[in-house]
Amino acid sequence: MSDTKTLIENINKALSDYLEPRYPEKIYEAMGYSVMAGGKRLRPVLVLLACRAAGGKDEDAMPFACAMEMIHTYSLIHDDLPAMDNDDLRRGRPTCHKQFDEATAILAGDCLLGYAFETMLDKASEDFDKKYVKAMKVIAQLSGTKGMLVGQVVDVDSEGKKISAETLEYIHRNKTGGLIKAALMAGGIIGGADEDTVNLLESIGEDVGLAFQIKDDILDVTSTAEVLGKPILSDEKNEKVTYVSLYGLEKAQQEYLRITNSALENTKKLGEAAKPLYDYIASLTDRIK
Ligand code: IPE
Ligand code: IPE
Ligand code: MG
Ligand code: MG
Ligand code: MG
Repeated sequence: MSDTKTLIENINKALSDYLEPRYPEKIYEAMGYSVMAGGKRLRPVLVLLACRAAGGKDEDAMPFACAMEMIHTYSLIHDDLPAMDNDDLRRGRPTCHKQFDEATAILAGDCLLGYAFETMLDKASEDFDKKYVKAMKVIAQLSGTKGMLVGQVVDVDSEGKKISAETLEYIHRNKTGGLIKAALMAGGIIGGADEDTVNLLESIGEDVGLAFQIKDDILDVTSTAEVLGKPILSDEKNEKVTYVSLYGLEKAQQEYLRITNSALENTKKLGEAAKPLYDYIASLTDRIK
């Protein structure tokens, strides 16, 4: 665990360097406000631990780890906008559009997405290796048309509707699973993983992503805004079908544990170098925020 703490410190240092204010200051202020507000840093930690599991070095993966956090934070800024979930609190602070204004929040999200790709391309062009291009391809797909964005589209489109269990699973696997899968696969690719290992990381990402969003649904009804740093009962407010509303709290908890165990079984198959990754995924079992 203390090793994870060091990893997070390194990630935060790198992120704050990337977000050093410059002209036009307002947009760097808004980006920094949302990125540096805290957050668990799940996706960058997964990038680095998957890279280590494959035998790679942190320094090679760090630009990609930071890029994943930029993409994730952009998704949160936009997710909170009045046109989407219309939430006022994020990472213990007023949401970006509340602190600044809607135009700034939209642009800060857009800038973070662009800056994420700029950051990855800097590494890929200064240290040319096909693996960086491959990692970027996975991240582009899973944050967009094959993951996060299409998941968000169906999520927003499903508000106030009765949707099937299949549709709910599609939403969760994409809106949240997309970036989590991308983090594990990209980390593995940068670490030099072979195709079988990347495939295994992909299936671990499928499980961790789905489980993570089921837990997010659970915490939305069982936690407090003080602990979460974001509003509770946001899903009910927006008439979203969730694992809790569809199956009930107890069954949602059971599913969460079943899927997490499946992720852990697969992580074991990665061998000794993946022990820190295993421990980190196991630690998510009792996350309270
Ligand atoms: C929140 O993600 C949005 C979801 C995909 C559930 P996190 O729970 O990882 O939020 P932070 O990064 O810790 O703020
Ligand atoms: C959002 O899911 C997933 C994203 C892609 C941002 P939620 O809308 O449930 O996330 P929270 O609860 O606002 O963090
Ligand atoms: Mg949402
Ligand atoms: Mg939301
Ligand atoms: Mg939620």
